[in-house]
Amino acid sequence: MDPHRVIIFDTTLRDGEQSPGISLNSFEKLEIAEQLARLGVDVIEAGFPISSPGDFEGVEKIARSVSGVTVCALARAIENDVRTAWDAIKEAERPRIHTFISTSDIHLKHQLRKSREEVLETARRMVALAVSLCDDVEFSAMDATRSDPDYLAAVLQAAIDEGACTINIPDTVGYAIPSEFGDFVREQFKKVPGLKDVAVSVHCHNDLGLAVANSLAAVENGASQVECAINGLGERAGNASLEEIVMILETRKRTLGRATGVKTVEIARTSRLVSQLTGYDVQPNKAIVGKNAFAHESGIHQDGVLKERTTYEIMNAASVGRGQSDLVLGKHSGRHALKAAMEELGYNLSEEDLNQAFVHFKKVADKKKQITAVDLEHLVSEEIRELTDIYELKSYEVSSSSEFVPTCQVIIEKEGEKLLGKSFSGGSMESIFKAIDDAVGTKGKLKDYQVRSVTEGKDSLGEVRVVVEVQGKAYAGTALSIDVVEASAKAYVRALNNAYRAGAVT
Ligand code: KIV
Ligand code: ZN
Repeated sequence: MDPHRVIIFDTTLRDGEQSPGISLNSFEKLEIAEQLARLGVDVIEAGFPISSPGDFEGVEKIARSVSGVTVCALARAIENDVRTAWDAIKEAERPRIHTFISTSDIHLKHQLRKSREEVLETARRMVALAVSLCDDVEFSAMDATRSDPDYLAAVLQAAIDEGACTINIPDTVGYAIPSEFGDFVREQFKKVPGLKDVAVSVHCHNDLGLAVANSLAAVENGASQVECAINGLGERAGNASLEEIVMILETRKRTLGRATGVKTVEIARTSRLVSQLTGYDVQPNKAIVGKNAFAHESGIHQDGVLKERTTYEIMNAASVGRGQSDLVLGKHSGRHALKAAMEELGYNLSEEDLNQAFVHFKKVADKKKQITAVDLEHLVSEEIRELTDIYELKSYEVSSSSEFVPTCQVIIEKEGEKLLGKSFSGGSMESIFKAIDDAVGTKGKLKDYQVRSVTEGKDSLGEVRVVVEVQGKAYAGTALSIDVVEASAKAYVRALNNAYRAGAVT
């Protein structure tokens, strides 16, 4: 590999998915993975297969159908984890097993309750096992930055001796500061002779807001892989943000002399999709993908940008795929125009899928004058999710006024069977959710409800996300419609679909 190239290892679907409240089903994971492949990341860490049957299924699906990228599965340094990870990814075009064990004394004493010798031996055995199954093995020394550097070096060398070809040095608890972390990585290169023959990776958490700065310091000191996540998702304060790492390397390439294979124009779209499916909003002032990242409020700045963009902009919004929500289609657009627009977005639909998408598109175009690229992207996403649902909202009727208690009636279809649900209570949303419960024969508890508009304007598509608790477990559902009431009902039904997949609804 070109020594100037930085390998982008995306962990949105693994570490990112560990963020509280995120629960993606396997189809949503696949949708994100397909977009990550379009974005051009080198490695997709698809999940942690031993952690749940749902995670296994998601990783397996991605491994089977996403091509042109390495698909990686995480495993503790435990035999069953490693074998399960391999089972999930073995059909991938380029599979990778990523196994890890802690190396800091604090983790050894309080969590693993193992001696340094035992951990070193376990790392050795599990890397050897992984290498016997898969050609591409990554080893991570968890909590590396709080580990004794000499002991860490011994474990890393052992992993290399057993055949690991990527060695990851994580700042698991986000404790490092850039100058110190850069030195730490450089010292490991001196202590571990084998590091020069493998890819050296870093995985930084953002507890002190330094994940990106620390990753960059590591790159400047010899790291060739950065583990990061879209929108900076991840445990606690998150991981290094992929879009920031990529755009730092791109914008400052003359100084840093490093490059990635990421197609930066896909960044904004990937960020939107991840935000939409995880329910994690992007803060408005977030670098690169925040709503205001390219907005100029002060008159002096606006004046400067109008005269010459580079007076106040170090990047072009278009280079990250922003500012492209121009009108693409309207109610008079035909099937061909839709097909062409879809292809431009990277979707090659079959004749049947195109017909279905066209019906959906026409319904929206009848009510919304202008369908932008962003609208279309959301509609496609909605379409894909509908295809995988068992319960489908066929119709609803809700009557509400300031004087009377609302009443609601819904029809839900399940495998061809029509289920009728009714309710008479509370507010109109409560009434609709209760009627859906009645049709499905369950009792969901609404834990969260969010509405946002996809674009600007009164006729914007509305996106609703709900989190519903069924039998003590939370399930999320997101849906889109020109009508917020319909979007709410669909989102609720979608959450019940996720509960169904997990066996909580029958
Ligand atoms: O933060 C961490 O150390 C991890 C490892 C599994 C790489 O997520
Ligand atoms: Zn992590």
